[in-house]
Amino acid sequence: MFRIKLFVIIAGGILGLAGCFDSGPKKFVIADSKAYEASLFRQNCAICHGPEAMGRTLEDGRVVPNLREGPYKYATDEQIYDHIANGGNGMVPFRNQLTEREIRLMVGFVKRDLRGK
Ligand code: HEC
Repeated sequence: MFRIKLFVIIAGGILGLAGCFDSGPKKFVIADSKAYEASLFRQNCAICHGPEAMGRTLEDGRVVPNLREGPYKYATDEQIYDHIANGGNGMVPFRNQLTEREIRLMVGFVKRDLRGK
């Protein structure tokens, strides 16, 4: 009986530890983030791209892409900046809503926090 209990305790400990190390790369949770970029995303982008940027289909049938997973249409900083500033293919332009600095921050947010690059 003692041996079984000991085994359960040890096995449980190992599983618990494995759980700590095995979580893989942490997913950036927009809803939990206090970063300025995350709040800009919640205010300006979530309506189309979804609260966690996983993409969605709008009521008019427009398909809005997942910003976390490729293949990406816009890859370089310039392409992403240009797309956020000028919009196109169903995305609204943000050059009059966001400052240049804010658009730059969103480029970094997409690449670093969402795409993990
Ligand atoms: C009106 C709905 C709408 C809003 C609001 C919107 N988007 Fe988009 N977004 C789209 C659509 C539709 C596309 C696909 C455009 C295309 O295929 O060229 C897109 C594409 C993108 C892409 C390119 C994805 C790729 O494949 O490379 C990025 C990056 C992006 N949006 C970021 C943002 C950010 C950041 C915001 C907020 C500042 C935002 N979007 C707000 C609809 C929207």
